[in-house]
Amino acid sequence: MKTKILKINPKKIDLAKIKIAAEEMKKGNLVAFPTETVYGLGANALNEQAIAKIFQVKERPFNDPLIVHIADMKKLYRLSKQVPPVALKLAKVFWPGPLTLILKKSELVLDIITAGLDTVAIRMPADNIALSLIRVAQTPIVAPSANLFGRTSPTNAQHVTDDLGGKIEMIIDGGKTKVGVESTVLDVTVKPVQVLRAGGVSVEQLREVIGQVKIDEELKRGFRSPGMLNSHYSPRARLILVEEKGKAQVEKVFKLASKYKAQGFKVGIMAKEENQSKYNGFQVKVIGKGSELKTCAANLFAVLRNFDREGFEIIITEGLKEHGLGLAIMERLRKASAPKINLKFDRDEGI
Ligand code: TXA
Ligand code: MG
Repeated sequence: MKTKILKINPKKIDLAKIKIAAEEMKKGNLVAFPTETVYGLGANALNEQAIAKIFQVKERPFNDPLIVHIADMKKLYRLSKQVPPVALKLAKVFWPGPLTLILKKSELVLDIITAGLDTVAIRMPADNIALSLIRVAQTPIVAPSANLFGRTSPTNAQHVTDDLGGKIEMIIDGGKTKVGVESTVLDVTVKPVQVLRAGGVSVEQLREVIGQVKIDEELKRGFRSPGMLNSHYSPRARLILVEEKGKAQVEKVFKLASKYKAQGFKVGIMAKEENQSKYNGFQVKVIGKGSELKTCAANLFAVLRNFDREGFEIIITEGLKEHGLGLAIMERLRKASAPKINLKFDRDEGI
């Protein structure tokens, strides 16, 4: 199959092009599209066969449920039979935006979307292309991140082509995504509400609006995800995360990089801008200033993909601060560096 690339300027949306993409979705085909977080792989939420194709092309297990994307609040009440006040409050503040709410599902929601659960994940993305597409297609759109299962999420159209080119009908190219990490997944069916995945809306922001928010300790350690798998967001290269702080961090990164280089591996270092010059003799890519977590989040997946494209075998990465967007970044780095074969292994720092 030849994948059509449809370029759309997000600042000046060409509705004729959106219509072409919406037609594709009406036919039951898959269209990848930008959201403010990462690119999504979209299908008509009412078309079971189209949704089944998402799992096939992503090689995603059917027990990993999908997010339904909506463009207006009315749909929230169609898709969920029970919208608690806390959900409404959050939606008012953070939608459109990178927050996904887990709610009790209505009978309209197909089982293939929720993996048979009685809850459904819903979000309203803050991206004009995504919102126009949902409106013109006149249907909610289910969309996981548009990458192969377990791999690094795509933050531009080329990333989608690299993973899914030739396997899907269409990719809308709307440029680079702004946030760079996926939405925060928040279960509002429990009290207090619970973060299942850290993401674009920080826990601090949530607490400012609704007070108590629980974070799973397992999640913080990188050992729980709604996807139920440790290893996720992974580059092809082996990723090693160094969580020490300050000088100790730089020393450990340097030591590990030296060790693997001496063993003949092609080793890269992902570093904060302020530490870049401390790794003389090594190939370094900068994620951003340690104090600018927004920039770091926006760069995270693209930098990891660049290492892969250039054939690096081992990436040693510095850890970042864990407040604000830093929690989402660290959750991803922990999962991406989790061992892939034997889940009982300690998260080691050597091979
Ligand atoms: O930013 C995002 O959320 C992106 C863009 C495209 O919207 N989408 C995304 O989808 O990251 P995906 O499928 O890669 O991740 C959805 C996460 C999965 O970890 C899934 O297990 C969880 O949401 N999820 C979906 N439905 C759920 C449910 N009913 N209960 C608990 N977790 C759920
Ligand atoms: Mg994903």
